[in-house]
Amino acid sequence: MAERILIVDDDVDSLKLIALMLQRQGYDIVVAKSGQQALDRAHADNPNLIILDVMMPDMDGYEVCRRLRRDPSTQAIPIIMFTAKTMVDDKVAGFEAGADDYLTKPTHPAELASRVKAILARSAAQRQVTAAPQAKVLGFLGAKGGVGTSTLAVNVGAALAKNEQVVLADLRLGQGTIGLSLGMGRATGMANLLSRPASDITPRAVENELVTHKTGLHLLLSSVRPKETLLNVAPDSASLILRHLRSISNLVLVDLGAGLTRLTTRILQEIDDVALAVEPNRITLTMAREILQEMGQLSIPASRISLVLINRAQSSLQIPWQEAEQMLGHEITAIISPAPELAFQAAESGFPIVAFQPNSIVANQFSKLAEEIAERRPV
Ligand SMILES: Nc1ncnc2c1ncn2[C@@H]1O[C@H](COP(=O)(O)OP(=O)(O)OP(=O)(O)O)[C@@H](O)[C@H]1O
Ligand SMILES: [Mg+2]
Repeated sequence: MAERILIVDDDVDSLKLIALMLQRQGYDIVVAKSGQQALDRAHADNPNLIILDVMMPDMDGYEVCRRLRRDPSTQAIPIIMFTAKTMVDDKVAGFEAGADDYLTKPTHPAELASRVKAILARSAAQRQVTAAPQAKVLGFLGAKGGVGTSTLAVNVGAALAKNEQVVLADLRLGQGTIGLSLGMGRATGMANLLSRPASDITPRAVENELVTHKTGLHLLLSSVRPKETLLNVAPDSASLILRHLRSISNLVLVDLGAGLTRLTTRILQEIDDVALAVEPNRITLTMAREILQEMGQLSIPASRISLVLINRAQSSLQIPWQEAEQMLGHEITAIISPAPELAFQAAESGFPIVAFQPNSIVANQFSKLAEEIAERRPV
């Protein structure tokens, strides 16, 4: 069945032109000449996509967009704003009102056609994924850089991979140390996916970028090439990748790196649980407190956050865990002991500590945490 597109424009010539162009591409076209008509048609005709003019006499496109987004029956319809306005502020207003894409007039027919195709493909892919059974996604976030977040993610992942399908995704573009620590430093799967248009990020494309470590852990890796840092990552694309990973595997782990960014803030709101890695010193704990507060504001329940205290250095000058708990107002789920030699040797060997020395104290600590994580999951 042809996909239906609702075109909204008070300028009849412009309306006819776009309608004709898209009709030729095989779409089923519905039109509206005012904001109110647009709302009526959106309800009556249930279109797959709406192309919306901004400047209209009765109700402008931003308002139409906001109303469509508020209404559960029209909320999920993709919207492309189509307007003569070219100021950046107008684009921002469009996105804030809930538009998915923006086109300025006059637009080349080929550009219009390709945007329409891309948006329709993306929303079809999203429908497909939401219908699939959902695996759990667990994020690993450092309160500060260098506290041992990636080591934690890799070891928990490798411990879990003994019994089930696990994928570990590294969102640290350009700083992807996970690949290096596992002797797979050349893989650039995450960047390969994120540099594509969202419509090309299909479950199969994601699967093709996975590599498997000798421990059985599947990986979607970032590399340490500085170029990757320059990639302008669309949070939508990252979120789409995670949804595809969910459909491929039982359990998905994500290395989110340190601190909150625009990207990680978005991802945190979509995943099930997060492990926050902290070090027992005042600076890191203060940063952790700020992050916990911010996560509270994002309505992430405290019950979904596990605090992991990592002691990388053997020192009597560290803050005791009870004091850290008090300072953070949050229970500590696991404590990892210092193991500098072991951490070094494991990284040199290209194996996680849990595989390199499975009977060591830290390996047991990682494995116990992994078990707790596996148990907490609803089956
Ligand atoms: N329990 C531990 N004891 C001693 N050293 C450790 C321990 N855990 C990790 N390390 C070491 O600490 C260093 C930093 O670890 P890692 O790369 O996991 O941190 P990170 O928080 O992910 O850093 P980044 O912010 O760069 O991503 C590494 O050299 C690692 O081998
Ligand atoms: Mg790291």
